[in-house]
Formats: sequence, C-alpha cells, structure tokens
Amino acid sequence: MNAQLLRETARILLADAKGLLAMDESNPTCNRRFAKLGIPQTVEARRAYRELIVTTPGLGESISGAILYDETIREQTKDGTPFLKVLADAGIIPGIKVDTGAKDLAAHPGEKITEGLDGLRERLQEYFQMGARFAKWRAVIVIGDGLPSRSCIEANAHALARYAALCQEAGLVPMVEPEVLMDGAHSLERCRQVTEEVLRNVFIQLNCQRVMLEGIILKPNMILPGLACPRPQEVKEVAAGEQQFQVKLIDRQPEEEADVNAVADVTVKSLWRTVPAAVPGIAFLSGGQSAELASARLNMMNHRYKAQLPWAVTFSFARAIQQPALEIWQGKDANLLAAQKALVHRAHCNRDARRGEYTSAMA
Ligand code: 13P
Repeated sequence: MNAQLLRETARILLADAKGLLAMDESNPTCNRRFAKLGIPQTVEARRAYRELIVTTPGLGESISGAILYDETIREQTKDGTPFLKVLADAGIIPGIKVDTGAKDLAAHPGEKITEGLDGLRERLQEYFQMGARFAKWRAVIVIGDGLPSRSCIEANAHALARYAALCQEAGLVPMVEPEVLMDGAHSLERCRQVTEEVLRNVFIQLNCQRVMLEGIILKPNMILPGLACPRPQEVKEVAAGEQQFQVKLIDRQPEEEADVNAVADVTVKSLWRTVPAAVPGIAFLSGGQSAELASARLNMMNHRYKAQLPWAVTFSFARAIQQPALEIWQGKDANLLAAQKALVHRAHCNRDARRGEYTSAMA
C-alpha cells in the first residue's frame, strides 16, 4: 500500500474549501431522472448531459474531485476529448463508483446489501491505470419498523471495509458511504441513533480490515427526520359560536421544520462521538434534500464548529448540485449555458458553505 499517495490524494481532494461532485448515477437512476423531465433516456443524452457537467467553466474553482460511473469514465466530448482530460485540465481529480448496487438482503425483508466485491481488485487496477485516484461504495440503511437489523448493519459495514482495503491496495482513496436513508416516518432522534450505530460498526470493520484511516474520506448522511415524519401541527382555535370552538390543524413541511441549527448541532455531535480524528475528511451526501437546505446545513456546521473539528467537513453532493441545472437543461442545447451557470453557482454556494460563509441570499 502506498500510504503517501493515499494521504496526498486525500489532502488535495479536501484542500482549499473545495468539495466533490457526485456524477456517478447508474444508468437506471440517470434514466429515471431524465424521464421525470421528459429527456430521452439514451446513451447520447446521458453523454451530452455529462459533457455539460464536465465542461462547465469555473467548476474546478470549487470542485476538487468528480465521481464518475463506468460508462462516463470512458466517454468523450462531442469533439473527441476524453472526459478524463477535460477534468484534468480543470484541476479536478477523477473518482469512480465501484459498487454494483444495493440488492435485497436475503432473509431480511426491506433491507439491502451492496454488492460488487467479486472481481473488484482487477477493476480497481484498471481504473487506476485510466487515471482514477479515488473510489466510492454506497451502503444503504433503511429505518423502519424494527429496522435496521443488526445483521444488515454488520454485513454492509463489512463490505465497506473489504472494499476500502482493496482500494488502498490499488492506490485509490476509498470514499466510504454508509447512507441512512431519509425515506420513512422516523424522527431526527431515531436517525441520530441509527447513524451513530452504523458509523460505530463501520469503524470497527475498517479497523478490523486494517484500513488506514488517514487515507479514506467518509461520506455520511446528515442527521435528518424522515420525509414522512409526522408533521408538526399547529393547533389553532377558531370561534364557531358563542361557546363552541373548532380546532384547526395546520400542516407544515417536516423537512423545512427541521431547523438548520438543530440538524447542524446533532450531526456534528454524532460525528464527534463516532468518527476518529485520524480521518482527514467528511464529505456529506445530499440524500434528497433541496439544494438550498443542503448548503445551509453544511454551512451551519462549519460556521458554528469549524475551529473545533478534527476533520474537514465538506460536500459530495449529486442532486443538491445537479438538480437545478438538470431542470434548466431539459435535454435542449439552447439551455446549455444557463444550466452550466446554475451548476457552477450551486458548486460555489457549497464552497462558501464549507467556509461557513454561505447565506441563503446567495441562492
Ligand atoms: P445525493 O447527493 O444525490 O444523495 O447523491 C450522493 C451520492 O453519491 C449517492 O450515492
């Protein structure tokens, strides 16, 4: 294992208040997002969209690394320039998603195990030769009635650690991504409990597999209430007669309700308890939060706690950087420049959030 190369790659990926851009959607996920906007689900549309991303002027000012998908790492711009060269010219380090997806975990209804260890050593060698210097593996943890099970957490943590050790052997910095999903009716507190349990297990397994913590980047979820968490309701009494009162319940959106300050506090405190100081950086996934909320929450963590944090706290967002641009592009050449402008704007907002200097007025 080349420890110096791993440390240096991690250092560059985390330097200068930059963050990472996840553009490693699998073809089915990319097609699903295209379908929602009426964009054709073709190889050429996917290539054109990814060309839009990698050729965005100024992207390298706030993005240090881009996570690619197997299809994308081999692609070229319309004029024949490999995406890898376009990224290198922009000062962006290429990374690669190497898991082969989350599949049903046998005997555990509703739970997933991430696959992709078979043949991984050889695939990593090929990606390293192509120029990739970091990789990503995403484990998925569902919160539900009686979920997650201990066996699901342990199986996914073990797979993440086996992957991470293989990456380091091949000279790639592993991004270790245990994602506790936002789907569900759970509370912020339940998400905290589960996320802490998952992270504890992940670090036990990483140590067990002899992964060098100085040469990884952790990619966790922020701690958030579930999307279907019962909405806080305001009770308002409305006079409906002399002595009669009617009770009116007003729904509010749980995501917006979850106060930016509370999310920042709970998330940082949980990470303090569970992530060793040897880890150089934590780069959050966005997980389905709006672009603005993801930036605001990242900003608050850095604004309040940056001076006390042992690790860099940055972003590795996909949807929270790409979604506004994708909605503007809609598969049309005429919208390309406006979409690129939106993309680089979100990237810069997150660089400001990493400094703790983002304000929603920027959005
Ligand atoms: P989101 O930011 O859209 O959650 O994606 C990050 C990612 O890499 C998912 O694996």
